[in-house]
Amino acid sequence: MSDTKTIRWGIVGAGRIAHRFAQGAAHVPHARVEAVWSRRAATAQALAATCGAQACESLDALFASGIDAVYIATMQDSHAHYAIAALEAGLPVLCEKPATVNGAQLERVLDAARRAQRLFMEAMKPPFYPLYRTLRAQLAADPIGPVGLVRAGCSVANVPADHPSYSFEQAGGALLDIGVYEMFLAVDWLGAPREVQTIGRLGATGVDTFASLNCQHEHGIAQLFCGLDLHGHGDALLAGPLGNVTIHANWWNPSRATVRYADGRVVELDEPFEGGGLNYETAHFCELLRAGALESPVMTHDTSRRMLAMADAARAALGLRFPCE
Ligand SMILES: NC(=O)c1ccc[n+]([C@@H]2O[C@H](COP(=O)([O-])OP(=O)(O)OC[C@H]3O[C@@H](n4cnc5c(N)ncnc54)[C@H](OP(=O)(O)O)[C@@H]3O)[C@@H](O)[C@H]2O)c1
Repeated sequence: MSDTKTIRWGIVGAGRIAHRFAQGAAHVPHARVEAVWSRRAATAQALAATCGAQACESLDALFASGIDAVYIATMQDSHAHYAIAALEAGLPVLCEKPATVNGAQLERVLDAARRAQRLFMEAMKPPFYPLYRTLRAQLAADPIGPVGLVRAGCSVANVPADHPSYSFEQAGGALLDIGVYEMFLAVDWLGAPREVQTIGRLGATGVDTFASLNCQHEHGIAQLFCGLDLHGHGDALLAGPLGNVTIHANWWNPSRATVRYADGRVVELDEPFEGGGLNYETAHFCELLRAGALESPVMTHDTSRRMLAMADAARAALGLRFPCE
């Protein structure tokens, strides 16, 4: 495939994030949204109208519409179902986070990707932002030593009661909605989880509304929290023997970081992002597709596995099991 081949996207689902994806795609060179399907024709048509795409009447029609890749933007209870359907139709998949509801579902998706020999990537946006890439380069050139502590949290108190995060049927809850970002950060800097200690609470709808995790990883310790009922502050700390980094709020849409070295030097990193931020992961996926890759070297299948291992352990500690499991 040529370096400039236009990647034609099909979107499954037409809610909040699907709209943001379509806006972001407009900032990706040689990519466009070609087709949309959602279970309600009206919402698919409304999204399609915003980006000059066709609204398809069925999932099969979407898969047959000449697209090169599928972006899955439904709630997590249906990610595995649609990812497997797309892969079995021979289409590469970029799937919203969390990749699936649990580790067992993820293995079924990865099996389907292997059988179909198609690219699959969880849409975990932070590592593709310019700031995050600059930070990696900064720490490679001027290290703080091996990162041994990751501290991060995300808790928002103003989630409306009808938001899907509160939906038990759709596998909502703080851990799978926003906790997965923190789990990504911990896995990215500290490696595989070895032990996850969790305290938290469930709310009126049955989903977790707050959780605090202390985790032992291969290379250090993570202290994470996520919630739907407290007004937290979304910065993140990475600490090493020679210094530390603060990724300023909201760290999962990163644009600023401060690196403080033990010798007193302070380095400020400032990298604004454009296009809403989803465009960077989309551009990465398009490049992988053109190169014939089956897995991202940045957002690997093992990273998704490790994040879900943490979420599975945390939910087990809270006694939280969803209807789709
Ligand atoms: N990367 C990010 O920054 C980010 C931010 C927010 C959310 N997310 C993720 O994006 C996903 C969607 O979140 P959202 O906030 O966009 O939710 P949303 O606004 O409720 O949109 C979900 C869409 O999927 C459709 N849908 C849900 N279940 C379906 C099913 N079983 N079959 C067919 N269509 C189905 C819904 O259709 P109806 O309208 O008919 O219900 C709606 O169009 C979640 O997994 C979430 O974790 C990612």
